[in-house]
Amino acid sequence: AQDARAMAGAATDIAALKAAVESFDGCDLKRTARNTVFARGNHEAPLMVIGEGPGQDEDREGLPFVGRSGQLLDRMLAAIGLDETSAYITNVVFWRPPGNRKPSTEEIEICRPFVERHIALAKPRLILLAGGISTQAMLKTPQGIMALRGRWSQVTVEGHSTPALPIFHPAFLLRRPQEKAKAWADLLSLQEKLEELG
Ligand code: URA
Repeated sequence: AQDARAMAGAATDIAALKAAVESFDGCDLKRTARNTVFARGNHEAPLMVIGEGPGQDEDREGLPFVGRSGQLLDRMLAAIGLDETSAYITNVVFWRPPGNRKPSTEEIEICRPFVERHIALAKPRLILLAGGISTQAMLKTPQGIMALRGRWSQVTVEGHSTPALPIFHPAFLLRRPQEKAKAWADLLSLQEKLEELG
């Protein structure tokens, strides 16, 4: 079997990491997916957004957050002055879970070395964790998004910690628009922190 940690570690830039993920066949999700969904946006941007996993639209296009959730995510980022040049967008798994179910803990762990290397190579100043799945995976906590959203935490990879903010997933906000006020408050907290960085 391919060793994900070794493959990820051997990648010394983002393009090499993308190629490594595309050639990796240790995740069963790949067998039912049409495309590998790696990232979109600017990998040199100060902000990295990490979501849950590709849906149907993302699987078709091979890019993360291009469906309805993605459109809302783009509007959320635009509301604080960010666009594709100022954010880098990815997920905790690179292939669509069948039927848009949530990725399993096992699938997330299989992808983790690549996700961690992705962070280490992109070196974002801040990380936005979209939804409970990516929050629990990247903060290594069983606590839910209801308790964690809006609270700054740290994602630690290769000995380096990056401030990270959990926020409601845009798909959740589409179902529960009454929760948008909380997401808005969280976005303002993100904007403030980005401004502090200069
Ligand atoms: N939801 C996610 O979490 N990620 C995507 O890429 C699309 C929808």
